[in-house]
Amino acid sequence: MIVEVSSVSKRFGLRLAVDDLSLEVPSGVCFGLLGPNGAGKTTTLRMIYGVTRPSSGTIRVFGIDIARDPRTVRSRLGVTLQQNVLIEALSPEENLRVFGRYHLLREPELSRRIGELIAFLELSSHATVPVKHLSGGFQRRLAIALSMMNRPELLILDEPTTGLDPAVRLALWSRIRELQAGGTTVLLTTHYMDEAQRLCDHVAIISGGKVIDEGKPSDLIVNHLARETVEFDCAPEEESAMLNGVSFPSHRLRVGRRLMIYLDDATLLINHIRHYDQGDRRALVVRPTNLEDVFLALTGTSLEGGQ
Ligand SMILES: Nc1ncnc2c1ncn2[C@@H]1O[C@H](COP(=O)(O)OP(=O)(O)OP(=O)(O)O)[C@@H](O)[C@H]1O
Ligand SMILES: [Mg+2]
Repeated sequence: MIVEVSSVSKRFGLRLAVDDLSLEVPSGVCFGLLGPNGAGKTTTLRMIYGVTRPSSGTIRVFGIDIARDPRTVRSRLGVTLQQNVLIEALSPEENLRVFGRYHLLREPELSRRIGELIAFLELSSHATVPVKHLSGGFQRRLAIALSMMNRPELLILDEPTTGLDPAVRLALWSRIRELQAGGTTVLLTTHYMDEAQRLCDHVAIISGGKVIDEGKPSDLIVNHLARETVEFDCAPEEESAMLNGVSFPSHRLRVGRRLMIYLDDATLLINHIRHYDQGDRRALVVRPTNLEDVFLALTGTSLEGGQ
């Protein structure tokens, strides 16, 4: 295992941010930590990186106890935290140079690595502009480039694509896949369920500092819900009359007026609703169930619906 988190808790005063959490990240995977705001994702990553100490439990990275030897662990991993840590007055190139020296890189290797990272994160058009004049997306790309300076065996990315435009997100996904193909283990958090579904081999859904379930995204979908989703507007008071007589297995989730019904074969339900509506053709969306549905079902949170 590259990362082993064993029964870790973290208390901030009275608040239990991480509650007896255990995780195992095998070598070479892309592992996603998902969960609502305040679930404890960043705190968990900070403990794995060794900047926050667990209140109890142990964390091993590369088989090494992070509390015993944080320096060795940190020399072998890269981390992009939720908040960028950049030197604002310096350009991307200069930031990379400072960070490379910190990792004890010397010329000509230092300049070669800076050139590679600027190309890899497509930063060349802004390589010499002071960071304070860069847009948020370019700053994020630089923060990610910095975390890769030491060719880490484990790359930890806390919401790497938040605030990036769609084209840059796509480009970053393909970079992450390239790194993974080269043997890097990736541990990331994201609020974008499509991102988690595309990138991650394994996801752990966290809520209230605990893992509530984990597995392959496609397995979580089948285990918790069903393959297909029928989605439509339906007032809460209409729901029971409308679905009266529906006997096939299904799960329901409501977010405001929107009702989602998960089932293995959508045709049965569509026929039922058409029959109930008689001549009125209500707009129905039929789609494959995705990780976002599982997330909503497990955490019970959505921006619209609240807790
Ligand atoms: N330094 C701190 N002092 C006090 N409380 C903290 C501190 N850091 C985190 N917390 C609390 O711990 C809980 C978990 O926070 P954390 O940042 O780990 O959540 P998260 O899952 O990363 O959320 P988000 O999706 O919003 O980034 C929150 O209730 C937060 O307020
Ligand atoms: Mg966070």
